[in-house]
Amino acid sequence: MSRSLCTIREAGKRTGETVTIGCWLHRVRSSGKIRFLQLRDGTGYIQGVVARSEVSDEVWEASGKLTQESSLYVTGQVRTDERSKSGYELTVTGIELIQLASDYPITPKEHGVDFLMDHRHLWIRAPRQRAILVIRAEIIRAIQRFFDERGFTLVDPPILTPSSCEGTTNLFHTKYFDEDAFLTQSGQLYMEAAAMALGKVYSFGPTFRAEKSKTRRHLIEFWMIEPEMAFVGHEENLKVQEQFVEHIVQSVLVHCRPELELLGRDIAKLEKVKAPFPRITYDEAVRFLQENGHAFEWGEDFGAPHETAIAEHYEKPVFITHYPTAIKAFYMKPDPNRPEVALCADLIAPEGYGEIIGGSQRIDDPVLMQQRFREHELSEEAYQWYLDLRRYGTVPHSGFGLGLERTVAWICGLEHVRETIPFPRLLYRLYP
Ligand code: 4AD
Ligand code: MG
Repeated sequence: MSRSLCTIREAGKRTGETVTIGCWLHRVRSSGKIRFLQLRDGTGYIQGVVARSEVSDEVWEASGKLTQESSLYVTGQVRTDERSKSGYELTVTGIELIQLASDYPITPKEHGVDFLMDHRHLWIRAPRQRAILVIRAEIIRAIQRFFDERGFTLVDPPILTPSSCEGTTNLFHTKYFDEDAFLTQSGQLYMEAAAMALGKVYSFGPTFRAEKSKTRRHLIEFWMIEPEMAFVGHEENLKVQEQFVEHIVQSVLVHCRPELELLGRDIAKLEKVKAPFPRITYDEAVRFLQENGHAFEWGEDFGAPHETAIAEHYEKPVFITHYPTAIKAFYMKPDPNRPEVALCADLIAPEGYGEIIGGSQRIDDPVLMQQRFREHELSEEAYQWYLDLRRYGTVPHSGFGLGLERTVAWICGLEHVRETIPFPRLLYRLYP
């Protein structure tokens, strides 16, 4: 197409000029001889003003027919306008309709969640949903910038795997020709191999958990960022995490302020997210829960209400460290002074958003690793390659995994993770 188009975002820098924008009609408001078109093109929103006295009959008629989500090319002069949110509007001189949309299902009235989820492919056009996806993209950019600037190498672990990383109960099974295969739960084991080759590495990719949990924090398919660092112990692992999370939140505050405001996010709460973060041990957390009326025994794992009770005491994310080895993954290094607990930490977000990071120092001793395979009934044969990492030049190393969607939910202040990913895969929901 030879037509030269301008985006709504660019239009702001071209006041006084006549531009053509490819867009959709979001809403229209009429007041006698003037029509206000709320137009959107993905980069933003602009109000197009059509004045009866200033346009041809064709343009006036076309503007009167427009329905929600009709697609069009609109031409007009960009003018600064103090009253509009963006600071500029468009004095419309031409309208070229692409398609008149009829009966767009998502109207300005309230819709139920199931209805919206069935129409997720259209729902993402809504201003709130757009804002969330813009913030999600900024978070991803911030993540990559953080690690790229600190000398980490991006490494992509496989998605089809022969064995499990986080336990066998929630694996998605599939056939790999004649063999059995599983969709990855975590790239960690491969990232450990990569750390032995490249030093500091990180991955960013989809992970899958066949969890029969229907909560506001669980997705079946979610994206994880998994850094892994050679010659790094537990203490330094936590330092990287708090700087990392601070960097993500502060980047969103710098680059996505209009989107946060549109979502009604309490920005003052995010501004407090600066390293260092508070730390408590699992033992302290258990004592705290017991003293506050929770029936909780040492050795149990925290559920969402426990995490929320603990997090409520802090304005920043809080690390819970040194969980019992028995309730954590097989690869976590036991504390040398107290082997019944592991050199690990979960990072719990404030405001009830729950665990956003799980991480640990890894076992580096081949003998202990073999013992863990037996205790966890993992086939030593399947993990020979993983044992090789401890056989040939083993070193202390640590890493962690940040769940992207829970991070987006927290930063955006959302009720449920289903809105944090373009097309959520939830329990019993695979459509659209
Ligand atoms: O705590 P998890 O299971 O840790 C791991 O997978 C480690 N192998 C990571 C590592 O050390 N490289 O998962 C890490 C994070 C959680 O803290 C949470 O934020 C997110 O992934 N997560 C989920 N997010 C959405 N839906 C689910 N079902 C999730 N399960 C975990
Ligand atoms: Mg975890």
